[in-house]
Amino acid sequence: MNYIVVDTYEELGKKASNIIASQVIMKPNCVLGLATGSTPLGTYKYLAEMCAAGELDFSGVTSVNLDEYAGLDGSHEQSYRYFMDTNLFSKINIDRDKTFVPSGIAEDLEKEGQEYDRLIEGLGGIDLQLLGIGVDGHIGFNEPDSVFTAETHAVELDESTIEANARFFSSKDEVPRWAITMGMKSIIQAKKILLIANGQNKKAILEKAFNGPVDPMVPASILQLHPDVTVIFSEN
Ligand code: PGA
Repeated sequence: MNYIVVDTYEELGKKASNIIASQVIMKPNCVLGLATGSTPLGTYKYLAEMCAAGELDFSGVTSVNLDEYAGLDGSHEQSYRYFMDTNLFSKINIDRDKTFVPSGIAEDLEKEGQEYDRLIEGLGGIDLQLLGIGVDGHIGFNEPDSVFTAETHAVELDESTIEANARFFSSKDEVPRWAITMGMKSIIQAKKILLIANGQNKKAILEKAFNGPVDPMVPASILQLHPDVTVIFSEN
């Protein structure tokens, strides 16, 4: 594993965007696995800048996002589809028809999960998966559990996740209790993994995830089994 510690959030964003840019340059028709949250915002800003400067071409790229809140339509400002459209897709020359986010309003989320897995399989898997990490060790919305779940599935969010994400909603009660998340199979089968984390509150969970035992109660610990993981951490 390549574990990089940087001093600032800007540096984290620059390094992460350079890694994603290299992937796009080396394989213009690659499949990028993308993530939401506060951490990737800087990374997406730099990617948008590179694209605007004509240094990067996303026209051949397909993207698959990790997760979505259950019950939120893509037009809802806190939906992850909306986040991606606003913070990245509208700022780069990706074909919007080749951007995929699981649907949180599908009538049957399990069926939606199966279809999402088939979609990823049909694309030939993910070339580079970008991940954040939750304070509880989640990746995507794979919350601590007694087992690792392979398939894309509906998940009840942990209290700590709801609390962490309440900052984006007008009150904690408005945070959806359920979500749909890509499962561990598609994540672990990605050819490359790039995990980014920012802030002192992520230090302890990173230590557990990468230096502790592989344990479904610390979902990110499964990444220890992946042959090509880069972690970039900025404490500030
Ligand atoms: P954050 O979220 O980037 O907003 O800290 C990370 C995550 O929950 O995966």
